[in-house]
Amino acid sequence: MTTGSKYFVGNWKMFGIPSSFKILDRINQYFQKDTKNKRKYKIIMAPPFTLLQNFVTRYKNKNIFISAQNCYHKDSFGAYTGNISPFMLKKIGINYVIIGHSENRASGETDAMLKKKVFFALKNNLNIIFCIGENKKEKRNKKTFSVLKKQLTSVLEIKYNFKNIIIAYEPIWSIGSGKVPSSYELLKISINLKKFIKSKFKLNKMPKFLYGGSVNSQIISDFKSIKQLDGFLIGGASKSSKNFIDIIKNFYK
Ligand code: 13P
Repeated sequence: MTTGSKYFVGNWKMFGIPSSFKILDRINQYFQKDTKNKRKYKIIMAPPFTLLQNFVTRYKNKNIFISAQNCYHKDSFGAYTGNISPFMLKKIGINYVIIGHSENRASGETDAMLKKKVFFALKNNLNIIFCIGENKKEKRNKKTFSVLKKQLTSVLEIKYNFKNIIIAYEPIWSIGSGKVPSSYELLKISINLKKFIKSKFKLNKMPKFLYGGSVNSQIISDFKSIKQLDGFLIGGASKSSKNFIDIIKNFYK
């Protein structure tokens, strides 16, 4: 069983303009007033690169943490037009970065690239939210567990400090589809994966383990009983303060 803070992580993907800070302001106001539960959870929001500097300054002394949605697989500076390195993120005050999102894997990110991203992100003292997940066909062919194991072992290494690594299980077939695993399926995967990660990477303590894929305020009621989950990675529903707050409210109801 997992103890400690729960994580509610929002991934805005390709969404947001400067005035979208209003969404985060409302979430922050809710958090401030939530005296009953606010010590039990942490909010991390991942807006697009264009808003990072702005948001990281705005929420500096607040309780919302700002994450990048990705980083380039090189350390600091170089001739890589259009890319942002882990070093550049760290220097503007970012502490989290999502790596391995299936949408980025689908547009060509390989395990070799992900391995470098993780390496350089950790080197620059960023916390990583590392995404893994099977597609529909792999699920149908009962390959889920072997796919997840491979995604983990081809990128992460025993020598890493897993305190800085959050694992996010996001089945590809669930992202944006309204389809989710059953609570039983998710419980089973959580238990098995945690067991695997602990033994494979020789850990005393499990890294934080999140679920993502069509999370909304209704589904959260089914998933909140899964003690093995340390939180949720939320796409669509994180673009509305009401939807995001309702997820937190229902989680603690
Ligand atoms: P949805 O919540 O929109 O399904 O997206 C999940 C996701 O991809 C978060 O990273």
